[in-house]
Amino acid sequence: MRVSCTVNGESHEADDVWPGESLLYVLRERMGLPGSKNACEQGECGSCTVYLDGVAVCACLVAAGQAQDSDVFTVEGLAEGELLHPLQQAFVETGAVQCGFCTPGLLLAAHDLLRSRPRPSDVEIREALAGNLCRCTGYGQILDAVRLAAERLADRPSTQLGG
Ligand code: FES
Ligand code: FES
Repeated sequence: MRVSCTVNGESHEADDVWPGESLLYVLRERMGLPGSKNACEQGECGSCTVYLDGVAVCACLVAAGQAQDSDVFTVEGLAEGELLHPLQQAFVETGAVQCGFCTPGLLLAAHDLLRSRPRPSDVEIREALAGNLCRCTGYGQILDAVRLAAERLADRPSTQLGG
C-alpha cells in the first residue's frame, strides 16, 4: 500500500508498505528520516518518539497505515537549518548526549513537556521523561539540559518553542 503523510511540514509518500510495517520503519527506511531511533521496537525505551497529529507517540507501536494523511513531526524538524533548537543546544552543553541513541526521543519528550509546562519542576521533568531510557548518562545531565532549555525558553511565547 501507499502511505502519504506530512513529515516536518513536507509531503512524503512511501510505496509498497506492507500492513505490518511500523511508522518508525517507514520514516527510517522509506522516507530517509533516520533520526528517530529503533532501540527496542516494543514501546519500552522511547527512542522512537515522534508527534503524530500533535500527540507524542512511540513510532514503533504505530502501524504505518495509521499515519495516512496525518501530520508527523520528528527530531529532524527541531533545528532550523544549522541552528540547533534550544533543547538540542542544552543537551550538547550539559553533556546529556553520550552514545546519543536515546537523544532523539528524549528531545521530543522534553519538547512535549515544555510546550505544556514551560517551567517544570524536577519531579515533572522526571515524570515526563520516565518513558525514555538512557543507558549512558545516569539522567543527571539530561535533567540539567531540560532545566537549562526551560530557563532559556521561558521568556518566549509558547509559539516560539519551535518544532
Ligand atoms: S524503539 Fe520504540 S519504544 Fe523503543
Ligand atoms: S546517551 Fe546513550 S543511551 Fe542515552
